[in-house]
Amino acid sequence: MHRKLRLASHVLAALIAAPAAAQDNADAGKRLFRACQGCHTLAAERHMTGPSLAGLFGRRAGSLESFKRYSPAMRQSGLVWDAGTLDKFLADPQAVIGGNWMTFPGIADAEERAKLIAYLRTASAAAQPARPLLPSLKALEPRFVVTAVRLCGDTYFVTTGDGAMKPFWEFNLRFKTNSTSEGPLPDKPAILRAGMMGDRATIVFSAPGEISRFIEVKCG
Ligand code: HEC
Repeated sequence: MHRKLRLASHVLAALIAAPAAAQDNADAGKRLFRACQGCHTLAAERHMTGPSLAGLFGRRAGSLESFKRYSPAMRQSGLVWDAGTLDKFLADPQAVIGGNWMTFPGIADAEERAKLIAYLRTASAAAQPARPLLPSLKALEPRFVVTAVRLCGDTYFVTTGDGAMKPFWEFNLRFKTNSTSEGPLPDKPAILRAGMMGDRATIVFSAPGEISRFIEVKCG
């Protein structure tokens, strides 16, 4: 009787502990996913440096049509993602798919990988909201809309929709494109200030052809 009672209390303790442990593991997995979040989302069709990881389990490696940055190595790896292939890949990505373009060293700790993979199994199957990755560059205030760019010597003079003109040392001004629906309107490039001192900025164009069309090389 005594032994039976002790056994029952053990079973009870295990039953109470199990959901709590599963929750702890899920939380740990979510925390570990932070190492991936700079490059991956869990929202369908939301790609960053790396492909969206939505619907990952059962997917052939390198197979998302809308992701254009897969390496030939990833496309030709022949892997299908499941707990086993993910565990091997995440332990040492370059050892498993030599020459792949994921610049991430891997997770050495097997327990951490298990928690992360358990989290991914649930989170990649659930529909995640597709939050915008960048602020929309449409319908901006005039002071963020570039109307002219002039280059003289090593200096860009940037005029904005509010009529202001500011000089930038050419090395402090970056040109980028955003051709997605979140990018600026054609011929309405957006200027975004960067850096603490306000001396750096990025101009985002809707297409590469606009860049040279916009810049007039002229002094005075
Ligand atoms: C610095 C950016 C970066 C980080 C950090 C990163 N990845 Fe990646 N990941 C990539 C890129 C780029 C690819 C595509 C690589 C290729 O095609 O060679 C990729 C591919 C993958 C793939 C294959 C997906 C597919 O569609 O076949 C998986 C799975 C993956 N990453 C999981 C992870 C996980 C999990 C983490 C965090 C532990 C992580 N990655 C961290 C950039 C990153």
